[in-house]
This record gives sequence, structure tokens and C-alpha cells, in this order.
Amino acid sequence: MKLALYSGTFDPITKGHREIIKRASKMCDTLVVAVLNNSAKKTLFSLEERKEMVEEVLKDIENIEVVEHSGLLANYMNEIGCKYIIRGLRAVVDYEYELSLAYGNYDVSNGEIETVFIPASKEYLYVSSSVVRELALYKGKLDNYLDDFVIEKIKKRFEE
Ligand code: COA
Repeated sequence: MKLALYSGTFDPITKGHREIIKRASKMCDTLVVAVLNNSAKKTLFSLEERKEMVEEVLKDIENIEVVEHSGLLANYMNEIGCKYIIRGLRAVVDYEYELSLAYGNYDVSNGEIETVFIPASKEYLYVSSSVVRELALYKGKLDNYLDDFVIEKIKKRFEE
């Protein structure tokens, strides 16, 4: 693939996201990582903060471009000429949700946009941003799930 896209809310970015993005980056010339302003989710971090963390955590992957976006993903993809969405698949619970996103994007783009799934590694099967937010709130151990830069940010946020 020449151009592909991985999008998410990244509130915050986890090692699980990073693992999928790293593997996806090997499948294409350029991987756009879109940090979304998702109106359905009330986030712990602002869009700018989430983007800053994403850029920091992915800074050693060369063929990545981090952007922020709000609105329909398919419209943005049409603007940049991208036809492939990469998503990670973790446990079975992801399947139905991911299927609805994949079909939604396929339909809204008149069959132009395909979704490619990468199975998450065993150690990240049950990692999610809300799990790490809860761990941080109760001062749990975070280094299995988050990069140091993100750990500092989330600890600080819960001290404020
Ligand atoms: N590692 C760790 N966590 C992962 C993960 C991985 N590999 N893959 C998914 N997750 C988690 C996230 O941490 C998040 O956890 P949380 O809900 O506990 O916070 C959850 O899975 C879903 O995260 P994400 O991948 O960011 O998806 P989302 O549901 O927040 O948003 C969008 C999905 C942003 C891609 C989708 O809503 C979208 O495209 N929106 C734009 C509007 C649009 O076009 N809508 C029509 C779609 S058909």
C-alpha cells in the first residue's frame, strides 16, 4: 500500500496502539495517524495534548504523519486520496464494533475505502485507554501499558 490511515481518539495513546501502528507502518509507504476529535467521547486530554503524546510516542517511526481531524473520516480520506484504514483487533468484543465501522466507512465511500485488520499481540489484548485511565486514577502500575512520556502526563493530570 502507498498510503494508509490509522485513526483513534488516543486518550491517551497506549503501547497497544503503538504496536499496531508500528506493524502497520511496515505495510505501507506512508501511514497517516489521525487523532480524532470524537464528539461522542468526553476526553481526559485535549485534542492538542493527545496529538502531542502521539507524536512523541511515534517519533522513531519514519514514515508516519500525525494529523488531527474532526468530522467524517471518509471525507478526510477522500481529500488526501487514501483508501485503506488499518485497525487493530484485540479480543472478540472488538469484532462487532469494528465490523460496523468497517462497513460504515465502506458504504459511505461507495465501496472505495477498505479496512485492514491486524491482530493485537497477546500482551496487549486487553489494554485500552479507559483501563489505563482507571489504573492512573488509582495509582496503579502503568509501565506495561504506557510510554514514560505518557505516564508523566497522565500522573500530572490526576494530580491537578
Ligand atoms: N491498543 C490499545 N487500545 C486500543 C487498541 C489497541 N491496539 N485498539 C483499540 N483500543 C481501544 C482504545 O484505547 C479505546 O478504548 P476506550 O474506549 O476504553 O477509551 C477503544 O479501543 C476504541 O478506541 P479507538 O480506536 O480510538 O476508537 P474510537 O471508538 O475512539 O474511535 C474512530 C473510532 C475515531 C476511528 C471512529 O469513531 C471514527 O472514525 N470517527 C470519525 C467519524 C466517522 O467517520 N464516523 C463514521 C464511522 S463509520
